[in-house]
Amino acid sequence: MAGIRWPPEDSELLQARAPTAADLISDDDRSVAADSWSIKSDYGSTLDDEQRHVDASEVLSAGNFRTASDYSSDKDEAEDEVEPSMLGLQSYWDATYADELANFHEHGHAGEIWFGSEIMEVVVNWTKNLCINISKGHTQNLADGASSKCESVEEVNKWLPIWSVLDIGTGNGLLLQELAKEGFCDLTGTDYSEAAIDLARNLAVRGGFTNITFLVDDILETKLERHFQLVVDKGTLDAIGLHPDGALRRIIYWESVSRLLAAGGVLVITSCNNTKDELVQEVDNINHKLRALDSEASSVDVDTQKEPPPFLYLDHVRSYPTFMFGGSVGSRVATVAFMRS
Ligand SMILES: C[S@@+](CC[C@H](N)C(=O)[O-])C[C@H]1O[C@@H](n2cnc3c(N)ncnc32)[C@H](O)[C@@H]1O
Repeated sequence: MAGIRWPPEDSELLQARAPTAADLISDDDRSVAADSWSIKSDYGSTLDDEQRHVDASEVLSAGNFRTASDYSSDKDEAEDEVEPSMLGLQSYWDATYADELANFHEHGHAGEIWFGSEIMEVVVNWTKNLCINISKGHTQNLADGASSKCESVEEVNKWLPIWSVLDIGTGNGLLLQELAKEGFCDLTGTDYSEAAIDLARNLAVRGGFTNITFLVDDILETKLERHFQLVVDKGTLDAIGLHPDGALRRIIYWESVSRLLAAGGVLVITSCNNTKDELVQEVDNINHKLRALDSEASSVDVDTQKEPPPFLYLDHVRSYPTFMFGGSVGSRVATVAFMRS
């Protein structure tokens, strides 16, 4: 994981918005990117290969194969910087979703399922069980994998409607559709790409999910004023981290999420660029920074603050398929839950 540092006081990095698609990325560039990142996805795509410029989920994970030893490692990996890529730029996503929207209109295709449908199914089921466990007050044994236990229909109907859900960087919004099928009913998806939101709205209407709200919003300068009980992120922090200013942007991401989550609310984050341990370490660092900011604002010394840290690790998915590579066992994806104190 790249080391986290505070932005310089006079940083203008955030004001420097990513250039437009036309400025930065031609179709040729994207084809070159596709050729240079050519590991095939284990989990498949809903689109024809011919119609994709690049399987960006592979790009996200390229060069980031995780071995079993990575998961147990607690060493400081500050030197292990993530290479910036086009996937960190809004122009990339605008162009990608413009293509996917055209494919939807021409062929009815839903677009890419990031990390594949198997992973999405795991994330949805696991998140549902996690939320029900928390609703029932069972937070103590979550770290022993309680979130993987199945819950009854009665419990689903009783508990899930009270969870308001925000999907950050929703893309085509299919994750929210799956959460709606499981019983969540207060659902909002945001993305900074207008074409993504257009696609997500079209797909939701086609699927009969008229209760899902989709909004254009940049998580790094969010206009949302609501608090949510559950915030989900599948691949968005990964993408944000691939911007040339990725380390800075990740910090801003956590600050934004900390404002959007209700007290006691939960963030479920799915990443193929970070292991569970790396995400936990990143949150630990962020907790220190957020508390230092609080102590500056309140003039209370950071060491004597009584409140718990802003984000608390809850649980992670343990059931992802693993595979052998070079004699080591690894997994492509990590899903981790944190509670907002
Ligand atoms: C890897 S894709 C995942 C899409 C979706 N979550 C899914 O699982 O299908 C990353 C998404 O994050 C969005 N994104 C990246 N940076 C963002 C930001 N700063 N604010 C909002 N959305 C962002 C992109 O437009 C893209 O839809």
